[in-house]
Amino acid sequence: PHNTPLTGKRVIVTAGGTRERIDPVRFITNDSSGKMGYAIAREMQSRGAVVTLISAPTKLTPPTGVKLVSVRSTEDLAKAVTTAFKTSDILVMAAAVADFKPVNSVDQKIKKSADNDHLTLELTKTPDILKDVAKLKRPGQMTIGFAAETQNLLDNANQKLTSKQLDLLVANDVSKPGVGFNGDTNQVTILQPDHAPIKTALADKQTIAQQVVDQISQRVQREG
Ligand code: C5P
Repeated sequence: PHNTPLTGKRVIVTAGGTRERIDPVRFITNDSSGKMGYAIAREMQSRGAVVTLISAPTKLTPPTGVKLVSVRSTEDLAKAVTTAFKTSDILVMAAAVADFKPVNSVDQKIKKSADNDHLTLELTKTPDILKDVAKLKRPGQMTIGFAAETQNLLDNANQKLTSKQLDLLVANDVSKPGVGFNGDTNQVTILQPDHAPIKTALADKQTIAQQVVDQISQRVQREG
């Protein structure tokens, strides 16, 4: 492809929903399909970026030419991201990371018992990967997050932009029809610390990816 501000940039994209094991046959996950992350990876690749796609389980085929790293749990994802971030320019965290995981993951299948109609599963918070990566950020490295909100979209999203020290945040209101998890379409607001919010129209995820990557590309050019 012709030269773009992203040509040769080393980009990590994470995608899919992480899985937290309960026992050998059960896990906790979420509704993420991975479509938005895969669309971003494809878009980055088409603009000449060197893309590593770190993917939690999905039903999707990775774009050709992209390096695929497969992960399952949040812990796996955290390790893969932290390692890859050392030699990358841009991190796009499109993965839907489990916020909680079972305190105890057991080796044997949990059995129903005749004398107990209730089972309590104790959960503990997972580490915030983006927050941890922010501490490793060198000048010139960019981190980009996604936020799925069901209320107070702009307030919550702006708070995430600041607390995770992001260069750009893609926020979507997942309570609206056609927006966010699992579907083929999305509608997002792109937030940046030094830029007015940009609200896209409802469109297919590849079109949304183009608009997000356009903003990232313009940032790279401004800061280049
Ligand atoms: O705080 P919240 O989960 O809404 O933030 C979403 C953003 O943070 C996404 O980009 C997601 O990939 C990332 N995240 C993370 N580590 C977590 C939870 C979310 O990096 N434990």
